[in-house]
Formats: sequence, C-alpha cells, structure tokens
Amino acid sequence: MIPSVLPTYARAPLHFVKGEGSWLIDENGRRFLDLGAGIAVNALGHAHPDLVKALTDQAQNLWHVSNLYEIPQQQALADALVDNSFADTVFFTNSGTESCELAVKMARKYWHDKGHPEKIEILTFDGCFHGRSSAAIAAAGTPKMIGGFGPVLPGFVHLPWGDHDALNAAINDTTCAILIEPVQGEGGIRPLPDQCLQGLRKLCDDKGILLILDEVQCGVGRTGKLFAHEWAGVSPDIMMVAKGIGGGFPLGAVLATEEAASGMVAGTHGSTYGGNPLGCAVGKAVLDHVADPAFLEGVRARAGLLRQRLEGLVAAHPDVFESVRGTGLMLGLRCKIAPGDVVKAGYDKGVITVPAADNIVRLLPPLNITEDDIAEAINRLDQAASALEA
Ligand SMILES: Cc1ncc(COP(=O)(O)O)c(C=O)c1O
Repeated sequence: MIPSVLPTYARAPLHFVKGEGSWLIDENGRRFLDLGAGIAVNALGHAHPDLVKALTDQAQNLWHVSNLYEIPQQQALADALVDNSFADTVFFTNSGTESCELAVKMARKYWHDKGHPEKIEILTFDGCFHGRSSAAIAAAGTPKMIGGFGPVLPGFVHLPWGDHDALNAAINDTTCAILIEPVQGEGGIRPLPDQCLQGLRKLCDDKGILLILDEVQCGVGRTGKLFAHEWAGVSPDIMMVAKGIGGGFPLGAVLATEEAASGMVAGTHGSTYGGNPLGCAVGKAVLDHVADPAFLEGVRARAGLLRQRLEGLVAAHPDVFESVRGTGLMLGLRCKIAPGDVVKAGYDKGVITVPAADNIVRLLPPLNITEDDIAEAINRLDQAASALEA
C-alpha cells in the first residue's frame, strides 16, 4: 500500500523534534550536530531568537494579503537585496525551483521583447541542479531527472563541465542565456573557478547572451560573501536565490538588472504566496545578519577553521576519505567508499551530513556555527570514520 506521504524520498529513520543553534534533537532526546542545515537552508541555525521574533511578531499582525496589494515587508526586503547586490529589482518566490521558472521566463521574454523571439536556448552544464519543475529538470537534462516525465521542455543545451570548445561551439543566433551555479551543490560541491566565471561574463557580453546564476545553494553568505559570484568580481544579469534567504521559512527570490527584467511587466508573472509578509519578515531578519560585513568575515574565519580540521580528518582516515573540496561553509569530503555509508555512520555518532554526486559528503553547517561545535563535529566525524575502518 502506498504510504500516506508520497514516497519520493528515501528517508533516514530519524525523527527530530527540536532544533537549537547547530543542534538537532530527536524524539529520544539524542543530540545531533547539524552540518546539513536542511541542505543549506538554516543559515542562522535552528530557532535563532531574531528569526523567531520576526516570525512571531509578524504572525500576530498579518499573515497573508496577496500581491494585489502593497506589502511593506516585501518592499523592505527587496530594498535591502537591491542595496546589497548587483540587482535593480527582485521577485519573491517560495523555492529555488520557482526561482528557476522565473529566471527562464525572464531571459526568454527579454529577447522576445527585444525583437529576437528566436533566442530561446539556455546553455547548462553537467552536474547542474536547478530544481524539479518541468523547466528545471529540462535544464539538468539527465535521464535520472527527466526519465518518464516527457515531453521534455525544449530549449536547453547541455554541455560538459569546463569544456570551452564545446561552449563556444554551442553558441549561435538562438542562444538566450547561460545558466550556471557558481558552486555546484547537488553535483558534488564543484566551485566554478573565478577566472571561468569572469570568462563566462565576457563571453555573454561579447555574444549578447544573458548570464543567469543559480545561487540557490551557494548564495546568502555560504561562501563567505553575500553572493558567491562576488568573489569573481563580476555580476550576472539574473540570479536565482532560495534556501538560506528564508533561514528555514520557505522563501526564494529572483534578482535582476533593470535591463534583464525589462520584459516582465504587469501580468507576465505572479505567485499567490511569493513575497508574503511572514516570509519577507523572516527574510529581512536573516539578511540583517548575513549582509553584515562582520558576519561574513566570521563565516570566512569559521570556514577556514572547518576546512583545516577536515584536511586533518582526511589525512587521519586515508581509507575513507580522499580529499576536501569546496569553498566557504560549502565543503565536500570526497570519499573512497560510498558517501551514503559515511553519512549513515555519522548518524550513529550524532552528526548530520548530506550526500551529493561524485562520491561527495556535503558539509553545509549553519553560517554561525561556533568553534566549539566545529571541534565537536570533527570529533564525531572522526569517530564515524574509525567505525567504518573497523
Ligand atoms: C542550486 C539549486 N538550484 C535549485 C534548487 C531547487 O530548490 P528547491 O528545492 O527550493 O525548489 C536547489 C535545491 O537543492 C539547488 O541546490
């Protein structure tokens, strides 16, 4: 008999009932160090007092009104995002997938309105993940993502990662945009080198193509800058955001330049819940922390510490781990054994990590994880690796 919850996830038998900072507590009172943060969502950890206050204060006043009316909380968060990024304008969504939908629509509409309706093709790269809607799975294009869900939305061209010749050869008069994650998450914590992102920006400018960055997983402070592309000193035309921006409340956004957004006039897009007062009140409280330069400096310091400790862990367990990769607090342990086994051994020792493609175990802790919690996390991962060796 089919379970009452549609069985699209292979769930671990863990049942958490409470979260405190970087810790999760299960129904038996067992404490787990959470290095997954709900897959890069709980940017400020669990139950951060400022987020609880923002949510409950808003909840006592007004939950929802509809985008038919002005929403001051939405305006405040949009203003703050515009002030802190390349963007001139923001549309709020409820998830990364919805941000992908709008990014694709916005890019195609841009060229349509410029008199180039033939420019519809969006170039994507091996290992990418942009969500689970029809457009997002077409963007990934792998059999695992699209199998059985045809007809696949046309207009996506899939390219090998890092193959400049293939990229140049793929560009023609129908090319609309390049869509890429500055750091691939699901694909296995693969950072795009700064010079490659700079090269993509130049290519887009030279050829008249829009650059869409998917910062759903790597954005909102995760790499130690507010947005990952800032490291390369270039900016996109359109950017997808979600996950960390809501700190655990379902919230996403598409940020864009005025030019790239020029086709999105009244009536071209909408969302019942996107930008709702509750989500935006929480999002503003998240951004008040994460956009603070001192906070970001702290993320970089904690990231340096975690990375150093992980290098030590890899050296201590050469049969389990091969290397550390990634950037900021978006790190991956490349494993010599099945990453799922490492994740499971972590559960036994009370530490949560997340598997990804390419034999990677992901570490995406809350951005404000303490040094003591980093030390304890390494201790528990060390115990997990020792158990696997035994
Ligand atoms: C880079 C990236 N884009 C898009 C998505 C889809 O986001 P959501 O699951 O919120 O729809 C994800 C989710 O993991 C992601 O990592």
